Amino acid sequence: MTPAEQSIAAEQICRLAPVVPVLIVEDVATAVPLAKALVAGGLPALEVTLRTKAALEVIRAMAEVEGGVVGAGTLLTRADVKAAKAAGAQFGVSPGATQGLIEACEDEGLALLPGASSASEAMALLERGYTMQKFFPAEQAGGAAFLKALSSPLPQVRFCPTGGISLKNAGDYLSLPNVLCVGGSWVAPKDAIAAGNWAEVTRLAAGAAALPRS
Ligand code: 3PG
Repeated sequence: MTPAEQSIAAEQICRLAPVVPVLIVEDVATAVPLAKALVAGGLPALEVTLRTKAALEVIRAMAEVEGGVVGAGTLLTRADVKAAKAAGAQFGVSPGATQGLIEACEDEGLALLPGASSASEAMALLERGYTMQKFFPAEQAGGAAFLKALSSPLPQVRFCPTGGISLKNAGDYLSLPNVLCVGGSWVAPKDAIAAGNWAEVTRLAAGAAALPRS
């Protein structure tokens, strides 16, 4: 998969909804109802972070949920990429971008949303052909004002900011011309998942799905 093909695929995923849920799922039994609740609320693109023992099984289970597009987050190594792809992930997300990880995604044919948090990192990815990037950690690295400043010299780069974003500040990002969507965990709170409160997850997802984009 070429970087251009990767960027097109990542952009299509980022256009599905204004918010990509960032999911940390400990118990595979919650995977299907959680994915269904998010999709029902209007959020089809789901990022399952590889931060729990169950993550790959969760991806495998969620990949069967109708209307969902499931990806793997926190990709760090070639082994992560291979395992995510084998589990049925349709895209990958990484907090930063290393040469090895990018090559692994290109070789394995997994659409990658690579992370950047500076002008030089965004330029290095752009040089390689990646026009769709994750901005991480968004709030801590300069927030919406930082991305707004990048849109003038680097208008060809589109971002999905993630990290510290909630319903309160998502609009600051989504109103920018270089932001297609934001990522966030607020739509799938730990306590709601543990309690099986899927109505609450759908309510939060619907609120996120209704956010206006530029
Ligand atoms: C992450 O990778 O943890 C995401 O950036 C989610 O951040 P959040 O929990 O602040 O939404």
